[in-house]
Amino acid sequence: MSDLTVIVLAAGGGTRMKSKTPKVLHRIGGRSMIGHVLAAVAALEPARVVTVVGHQRELVGPHVSELRPEGVLAVQDEQLGTGHAVRVALAALADAPREGTVLVAYGDTPLLEGATLRAFTESHRSAGAAVSILSGIVAKPFGYGRIVRDDAGVVQAIVEEKDATDAQRAITEINSGILAFDAAFLAEAIGRIGNDNAKGEYYLTDAVALARDAGLVVTAHPVEDALQTEGANDRAQLAELGRELNRRIVTRWMREGVTVMDPATTWIDADVVLAPDVTLLPGTQLLGATVVAEDAVVGPDTTLEDCEIGAGARVVRAHGQLAVIGAGASVGPFAYLRPGTLLGADGKIGTFVETKNAQIGEGAKVPHLSYVGDAEIGEGTNIGAGTIFANYDGVAKHRTSVGRHAKTGSNNTFVAPVVIGDGASTGGGTVVRRDVPPGALAVSTSPQRNLEGWVVSRRAGTAQAAAAQEALGAVVADATDEQPENGPGLGGGTAERAES
Ligand code: UD1
Ligand code: CA
Repeated sequence: MSDLTVIVLAAGGGTRMKSKTPKVLHRIGGRSMIGHVLAAVAALEPARVVTVVGHQRELVGPHVSELRPEGVLAVQDEQLGTGHAVRVALAALADAPREGTVLVAYGDTPLLEGATLRAFTESHRSAGAAVSILSGIVAKPFGYGRIVRDDAGVVQAIVEEKDATDAQRAITEINSGILAFDAAFLAEAIGRIGNDNAKGEYYLTDAVALARDAGLVVTAHPVEDALQTEGANDRAQLAELGRELNRRIVTRWMREGVTVMDPATTWIDADVVLAPDVTLLPGTQLLGATVVAEDAVVGPDTTLEDCEIGAGARVVRAHGQLAVIGAGASVGPFAYLRPGTLLGADGKIGTFVETKNAQIGEGAKVPHLSYVGDAEIGEGTNIGAGTIFANYDGVAKHRTSVGRHAKTGSNNTFVAPVVIGDGASTGGGTVVRRDVPPGALAVSTSPQRNLEGWVVSRRAGTAQAAAAQEALGAVVADATDEQPENGPGLGGGTAERAES
């Protein structure tokens, strides 16, 4: 809408939040409240958006500029009322709009949707109105401006709670706060709004009576979905709106073909993208810009923030941030994916595994009890259970590179920087401090020595010694009874068993 200007009011204090964070910056569904409003506004493709900031503008201003760099910020030093705020907004524009439509919204209505604003703006235009009100019919109108209509139902004025007569207070049609103006009318009328009222504020809503006095058309359109214009003034309301927003988002994805086993414990942020046939199990939170491809199964009890999950991948009881999981890969149960984790297609990050800055190749596996930090693991490689990529020498972080189709033993430590070549192996318990050439077997543990009879002589009188004695007696008895040809002789010079 190229002749549309939108003004978002966000200069108020929001004291009931009892927070050092400005009200409109409180977050639900992965965005600030004002972020939701600005997204709804952007759907109209307006020519300009002016946001009025005041209270804590050093925080609100940069946030709004970051979200909408093309927008205009207007500073209202003192909050003298919504009429004053709109005057400040118009003054902030080099060329205040003289034609088209000016839409006014508030920065604290996170459920607001673009489609609602669009329909309202279109009705305003087709009615040829000077002012249109997005109204609402509510059971408890206390605190809101009431829509006063004459006997014929024609809107005459908006009367604020404090200025209302008892009869007016009984009116249940209220001003949601969202108003549309003919730009020329607003430009002319805004300077005529006074502050002679119970609050001593410049009420934007007084523009309604000014339009009627001039014989202009005023219309009010009750919104069907009143929650869309509801503001969150305290944290209890914020949580309620947050749950409702989530319910709406989850429902939308189910309609798009996502299976959600338990909508009540599934949380999906507004910017998450899901493919059809994704399955979400109970206790799953998909946050930020997370994207999940088709046939992936996530959960139960999984939190993914800004992650990308490939088609058909399985993520069970995991916590991930800025991680990319390939198609068909498997994660968890109990995995911690830190930023920079890239798991290739059909790869595995298994149980009690923590990864960070780790590129794990196609089909490569880190199945059990490991820390993989600052590492690269080639395709098809298997990392043994209990392996630590020791990336930190106490001063700086270093990288480890493991080649393709390597097989490393259990309980290894890779002391970075170190390179393990393609197709290499390492023995159990190896501490790899030097590079391992391709195809080599690295072992750093010394050969095992068995000190025969040590327990019986050094731990005499213990249950351990008794058990040892018993076993030794049995073996000796067996040996004398049967005299096996190839029995496992006791310290009798049998070959040391090869490690498996
Ligand atoms: C306003 C409306 C009322 C409506 C209600 C809906 C007026 C006079 N009244 O009342 O009819 O039913 O909203 O919630 O418009 N703001 C500024 N600068 C100011 C004053 C307010 O930016 O100087 C912003 C606030 O941050 C807030 C919004 O405007 O986002 C509404 O202000 P608020 O003081 O809450 O108005 P209400 O008294 O609730
Ligand atoms: Ca309010």
